[in-house]
Amino acid sequence: QYDRAIRPLSLEEYIGQAVVREKMEIFISAARMRKEPLDHTLVFGPPGLGKTTLANIIANEMGVSIKTTSGPVLEKAGDLAAMLTNLESGDVLFIDEIHRLSPHVEEVLYPAMEDYQLDIMIGEGPAARSIKIELPPFTLVGATTRAGLLTSPLRDRFGIVERLEFYTVAELTEIVIRSAGKLEVEIDTSGAEEVARRSRGTPRIANRLLRRVRDYADVKHEGRIDQTIADQALDMLNVDKAGFDHLDRRLLVTLIEKFGGGPVGVESLAAALSEERDTLEDVVEPYLIQQGFLMRTPRGRLVTDLAYLHFDLPRPHTG
Ligand code: ADE
Repeated sequence: QYDRAIRPLSLEEYIGQAVVREKMEIFISAARMRKEPLDHTLVFGPPGLGKTTLANIIANEMGVSIKTTSGPVLEKAGDLAAMLTNLESGDVLFIDEIHRLSPHVEEVLYPAMEDYQLDIMIGEGPAARSIKIELPPFTLVGATTRAGLLTSPLRDRFGIVERLEFYTVAELTEIVIRSAGKLEVEIDTSGAEEVARRSRGTPRIANRLLRRVRDYADVKHEGRIDQTIADQALDMLNVDKAGFDHLDRRLLVTLIEKFGGGPVGVESLAAALSEERDTLEDVVEPYLIQQGFLMRTPRGRLVTDLAYLHFDLPRPHTG
């Protein structure tokens, strides 16, 4: 995978998410002392903040193996059964996009989580019967963009529920410097800060931009990244000063120019942008809301004064 070389392998190396990290350190230490598997853990938050990384760190810190799959891949109960029966005692089963499990597969998961029991039907019609299989104790780590997307019976079966937040510029700067070290890229602090500021609070984006800025620096500046080179490269990549990408800008400008700044329903906005509603809600909006450029109101999406200022567009007259 793209970031195999730079992904942190322990909580110690993990930068940011201080609250989550401290809690996980305690829960993992306690489970290890008792020689029990860690409780089932749900991690949620916008894409790219380190949910998969955290699942891998949990397995590493517990000293067990991890088997990875995702909600949409587990089409049939048998697909999940195959994963579960392949686990060894204490292993982590990581299910990404766990909100996309089919109801049928989800039902097989409940007794597996609660009693380490697999309850499945084999055969069809009058010959059908149900069999029970004992599973080894294991830890389910589930990841999703929003906890609210899970059914409550599934959510209730996680003993640990953690939310990942957008990273601060200081944290992202540290991540960029760390990644640059691993990739043997020469970057100074102001260069790292420039990349960090324009990474949407997201390590995955910071690491991707670092690689592209390195390309630019290799060709134009003998590989050295400082603030000027970072700034030029990021302008070329169409990432603006606030770190907004093309779709961020399109959403805000469309809201302003086609809907008078809102409020407008998310479906109308999605249609105007030819994007999926889910993409807007899970990927685009969280950062714009966190940065104070957009609001979700009962009547729909509304831009704030910051958005008009950012694009230097006039505010409509009110009152
Ligand atoms: N790379 C991606 N996310 C990271 C994090 N939170 N800490 C350190 N390196 C990372």
